[in-house]
Amino acid sequence: MTTPLLLQPARIGSLDVPNRTVMAPLTRQRSQQPGNVPYALNAEYYRQRAGAGLIISEGTQITPEGQGYAWTPGIHSAQQIAGWQQVTDAVHGAGGRIFAQLWHVGRISHTLVQPAGKAPQAPSALQAKADVYVQEPDGSHHKAAASMPKALETEEIADLVQAYAQATRNAIKAGFDGVEVHSANGYLLDQFLCSDSNQRSDAYGGSLENRARLVLEVVDATIAAMGDAGRVGVRFSPLGTFNDVHDANPLETFSYLLNELNSRQLAYVHINKPDWAGGSYEGFDELLQALREVYQGDFILAGGLDAESAEQAIQSGLAQFAAFGRPFIANPDLVERIRQGAQWNQINPSTLYGGAEVGYTDYPALGD
Ligand SMILES: Cc1cc2nc3c(=O)[nH]c(=O)nc-3n(C[C@H](O)[C@H](O)[C@H](O)COP(=O)(O)O)c2cc1C
Repeated sequence: MTTPLLLQPARIGSLDVPNRTVMAPLTRQRSQQPGNVPYALNAEYYRQRAGAGLIISEGTQITPEGQGYAWTPGIHSAQQIAGWQQVTDAVHGAGGRIFAQLWHVGRISHTLVQPAGKAPQAPSALQAKADVYVQEPDGSHHKAAASMPKALETEEIADLVQAYAQATRNAIKAGFDGVEVHSANGYLLDQFLCSDSNQRSDAYGGSLENRARLVLEVVDATIAAMGDAGRVGVRFSPLGTFNDVHDANPLETFSYLLNELNSRQLAYVHINKPDWAGGSYEGFDELLQALREVYQGDFILAGGLDAESAEQAIQSGLAQFAAFGRPFIANPDLVERIRQGAQWNQINPSTLYGGAEVGYTDYPALGD
């Protein structure tokens, strides 16, 4: 039997990887408090999953304002950079590779997780119909509706772009192999892209070119800070409606974006099929096929894949790499299980967010 392409070595951007599986970015809300600092437990979790060709970290907020949920790790303070260094050391020590996912939630946030209780930052002052998770000053925590945001002033946008560049420099300092710009799932950059959430009248809103301007400026600033476009990826979720985003014409929007990105020589574009968070994904396969024809670089595909559908996507040329989210939560040794054709552990949905070891570092590997 020949080795599936999924398990063969490849090159992703300027990084050699031993296989074409990717651990998808997965928010787990388990950083150390106070300060949203990655620590030894997080290092152990990622170390266990170092068999992935490439790990993309959970979303990590680039600024305090970029946070939307309690206990998500940041990459803006010295303690956080030191904490991430523990994580990258553990992954590298186990023979793995890891990119940091650079995250700004925009309006998917709450005054309780914002510095000084301010209103969240967004393209426009339009409240999302979405929930976040917050902690009260007395320590109690609960789900809450996203707060009414404040529209970013045009003058604030240059600082925001620079915050992505700074986060990239922080990621390099913390030992990451690269970064992924999070422009998916209804967070800040997606809010700028989608026509419904962006009602600006300056150079960052209105026309498609204007709505796409911020993500392209962020990608360019990130590449400049990294010094190697082959260590930078970007994630999109065309057709996704999670977090109350909607775009009038995803084919036009993403064709334009990918065409623009063709000249950037990125490590990859990561396409997240929006079936994991509900929402409609009718027409996704056709859209992906059309986008495949526009984009000349590599795609990572994520969303509901198993070993067989991942292999098919790669064999057909639709994607060059396959990302697994929930399967990597439940199976630290997912790649080994694929290699052996072994059964996959089932995920426990009640331990996804928050907490400590349980449902995090205690999923068994084969032979445990
Ligand atoms: C618990 C959980 C947390 C997630 N956190 C993130 C995140 O931080 N960043 C992101 O881009 N996607 C996030 N996602 C989406 C996943 O990366 C992935 O695209 C999705 O789970 C579909 O893949 P799967 O069917 O293999 O799980 C998350 C999904 C889950 C289930």
